[in-house]
Formats: sequence, C-alpha cells, structure tokens
Amino acid sequence: MLCISVKEFLSWKKKQLSKGGDQQSFAVLLDCIGGVSNNDLNLKIINPKENLHLKKNLEFLEAIWNDHLINSCPIQYLCGITFWRDLKLKVTNKVLIPRPETELIVDIVFNIFRSKSENLIFAELGTGSGAISIALSLAYPLCEGLATDIDQDALEIATENYVNSSKQSNLKFYCGNWWTPLERFKGKLDLVISNPPYIPRDTYEKLPKEVKNFEPKVALLGGEDGLRHIRQIIKQAPLFLKEKGWLILENHFDQSEKVKQILIKNKFTSIEIVKDLSGIGRFTIGRYK
Ligand SMILES: C[S@@+](CC[C@H](N)C(=O)[O-])C[C@H]1O[C@@H](n2cnc3c(N)ncnc32)[C@H](O)[C@@H]1O
Repeated sequence: MLCISVKEFLSWKKKQLSKGGDQQSFAVLLDCIGGVSNNDLNLKIINPKENLHLKKNLEFLEAIWNDHLINSCPIQYLCGITFWRDLKLKVTNKVLIPRPETELIVDIVFNIFRSKSENLIFAELGTGSGAISIALSLAYPLCEGLATDIDQDALEIATENYVNSSKQSNLKFYCGNWWTPLERFKGKLDLVISNPPYIPRDTYEKLPKEVKNFEPKVALLGGEDGLRHIRQIIKQAPLFLKEKGWLILENHFDQSEKVKQILIKNKFTSIEIVKDLSGIGRFTIGRYK
C-alpha cells in the first residue's frame, strides 16, 4: 500500500496521460490495479489536502501503462479485468472485451420482459466473458439461462465470472457450435440473444492493431460478408424458439437492413432495428411468428 499526496498523484497522472492513451483506459488501470476508483479520486480532488492510498506503487502502475502504450495491448487484458454495466469481469485474450454498446442488449430485454419475476428460459449464443448472460440471470432470478460458446477456454472464464458475480445457480454453460449444445431445448426458448462474430473479412484485415493483434479472431470474423454466423443462427432459430419467442442480434454498423431481410425470409415478425447511443442500427430483433 502506497500513501501519496493528492497533489503528487495528480501531477503523476497528468504526466502519464501526456504520453498518450485515453482517460477511460487510465481509469481502468487505477481502479483494477491501483485500487482507486473514479469516485474515490473525484472525492479526493475536492479535498486535495488529503492523501491517497494506492495498492501498488507508481512505478508498477507506470510500467503497465507504458506496456499499453508501446505494444497497443488493451489495458483490460493487461489488468485482467473490465467493467461492463455494473459487473466487474475477468478478461484474458481468450475472450472479447465486452463493448459498452453491447450493454444496450440487456435494456432491450428489460423492455420486452418487464416483470423481473418472469420464469423465462433464455439462451445466449457465443457468451465470451459471460457478460450478457450474467447480467440477465442476475436481473431475472427465476429464469433459466443457457450460455454457449465454441471455445472451452472462454466458457471457463465466463463460469468464473458468474461464480464471482452471483450466488444464484440459474445460469448453465455449454460448449459447442451455435445451436448444437441446445438440442434438448428445442421449442422451449422464450428468448435468444447473440452478439456473434460479424466483421467482414476485408474489414477484419484492417482492424486497429489493439483489436486484431490481441482479441480472439473467432470472436470477430464473420466470414466474407460478415453475415455467415448471423445467417446460421437465424436459420435454425425457429427450431429452438417457442412460438412468439424473441431473437435479439447485435450486428455491424451497416448490417441491420440485411439482417432484417434474413429474419423476414425465415418467417420472423415484429422485426425492429434498435439504434445504439451513437444512432447506429446496432441490434435487429424479431419474434418467431
Ligand atoms: C463477438 S463475441 C461476443 C462475446 C460476448 N457475448 C460479448 O458480447 O462480449 C462472439 C463470441 O462467439 C463465439 N463463437 C464464435 N463462433 C462460434 C460458434 N460457431 N459457435 C458458438 N460460439 C461461437 C466466440 O468464441 C465469442 O466468444
């Protein structure tokens, strides 16, 4: 534990940020490794005469920050942690870092299923760190959640995140290709959510190096046009959804219209494109008949 004056700390912080990087990544470093949250810091800034207590010394924090700046490694991987909605999740390079825009999926579900005592059965295809499924299973304590992924390493992280976030036991994890692990839930699902890999190949090749060199390719690449997995998920969804069951998909910024057409072709109704906070049609949702 290091005790340092707020003034000295702020001058060190300014020096670090002057080297590059953004405030948000620096806040993750301070919170996860330094043990000082944004709230703690804001309170201290109001009372600058006080001291600040850090879990690690400034040299240690600076070494991680330099690593982030020099190698473009996402700070979340270096710290092993990310914040998503109100969850603190473990992340390694085996899982995609859950993105802020994906947080809205949970709100879309809240709008559809308004009572938190719903007895619904939901599945999430491609759970990664478990973020969406954990948030939903916490919000709907009576639901039965099924979270799948093709990557066993990702599922181990998701399971660890679930155990660390919840005392409940209403979320189970299954390994396999999209619908394959869910055979015994055919016709039983009220809701299916997926944020599948949807980046088209040529876009993938040009991704910034902090994404392409560190995040799992299996979590990003959606085939030539980006829609390979989305097509596969939609095509089989009618076998697994209950009548009037909901499918909620996240897609790339320019894919919503195409996803809508695939849903129509597969007899979905009540189709809606939901915009993210930047006004991008980021989610396409529909009901099976
Ligand atoms: C874009 S990431 C989404 C992760 C997480 N749900 C989120 O929103 O942060 C896509 C996930 O789908 C998984 N995935 C890729 N191909 C798959 C497949 N054929 N079957 C099941 N899961 C797959 C990846 O391992 C990855 O965890």
